[in-house]
Amino acid sequence: MAVSAIITGTGLYTPPNAISNDELVASYNAWVQAENQKNEVAIKAGEQEPVPESNSAFIEKASGIRSRYVVDKEGVLNPDRMVPNIPERSNDEMSIQCEMALAAAKDALKKADVEAKDIDFLIVGCSNLQRAYPAVSIEIQHYLGTSGYGYDMNVACSSATFSIKTAVDAVVSGSAKRVLVLNPEITSAHLNFRDRDSHFIFGDACTAVVIEASDVAEGKEGFEILGCKLWTQFSSNIRNNFGFLNRTDEGGIGKLDKLFVQNGRKVFKEVCPQVAKIITDHLGELELSADQLSRLWLHQANLSMNQLISKKVLGKEPEAGQAPVILNEYANTSSAGSVIAFHKYSNDLGSGDHGVICSFGAGYSIGSVMIKKR
Ligand code: COA
Repeated sequence: MAVSAIITGTGLYTPPNAISNDELVASYNAWVQAENQKNEVAIKAGEQEPVPESNSAFIEKASGIRSRYVVDKEGVLNPDRMVPNIPERSNDEMSIQCEMALAAAKDALKKADVEAKDIDFLIVGCSNLQRAYPAVSIEIQHYLGTSGYGYDMNVACSSATFSIKTAVDAVVSGSAKRVLVLNPEITSAHLNFRDRDSHFIFGDACTAVVIEASDVAEGKEGFEILGCKLWTQFSSNIRNNFGFLNRTDEGGIGKLDKLFVQNGRKVFKEVCPQVAKIITDHLGELELSADQLSRLWLHQANLSMNQLISKKVLGKEPEAGQAPVILNEYANTSSAGSVIAFHKYSNDLGSGDHGVICSFGAGYSIGSVMIKKR
């Protein structure tokens, strides 16, 4: 019988520091006031526009976000800094992405009832890797004690679903029996907290997913992966030009394009219909209908985006809880978002229920993972 891929456990690491919209806005506005004070003469002379203030009501209305978790709160909220304070560690110490991932991994392994040594492939998929090499996945392999091999992948916000697809291919082809997918996202370090348009968007978290071949997961509860559908199309509407070549042109060092930049309106308009199309096409390819979808665990960037996508896919308003929301509490945790929603809101489903984990973001990239409860 053909081997299929089963999700047998998920895990989540949530950093201990929450920042409310009000706290974030107070810090931003303190910086704005200081800036405008500094430039008072030029502003009064009409030579310069004052920097406008941010506000919590706008943030919640435009995005649905009320708070976010971060690795370091002090540095982010200090108006003189507005960058998380994450001290460098020596090569003998565990790196911070490894530390976050270990917590999420242990949670997922426990749920899956799998020992670390029985994982034979470990994938780290995230928007920002803290160094070029050695791969963060190989460091995690070392500290966690997994077997086989590991490598890192980056497809921005779609990194989790694209990594799941890689895991499924490995399991179905027989090159791995048990795969651990990890998404350690420290988005607070790529965010420009002095950009009014985007300072509220992101939060930090790490998710973990254990995927096992059906022949070694016999008798276990879990979700069978029925198929993965991936889509990409080049766009610079979400972009970050940070990279190893930056130092080769001094003129670009410190420029704002070396952090996250987006044209949010365009992203909204261009991505939503395409996501709905990918999920609908995927359902069709698997001979499923939209009314068989008990749940949509969507990427968590913007509440209105998710409402629009759910409505387009289902052909009606989703029922309460059918498209779970975690962005109100976590903000956009990049690749981790749809997995956090799945982790928190999947236990109540019954045998035979269908759902889709779908992420979307920079690239553009969209990943749809269709699953069925065993
Ligand atoms: N506080 C108060 N006002 C603000 C503000 C803030 N923090 N940020 C922007 N505004 C103002 C703008 O200046 C603009 O004013 P104007 O109408 O006078 O020009 C107005 O609010 C609307 O701004 P806009 O950027 O058009 O808001 P929006 O409704 O598009 O919402 C996003 C912004 C970012 C929340 C939204 O576009 C979005 O989420 N897009 C998708 C992003 C996404 O998914 N990205 C993926 C990342 S991986």
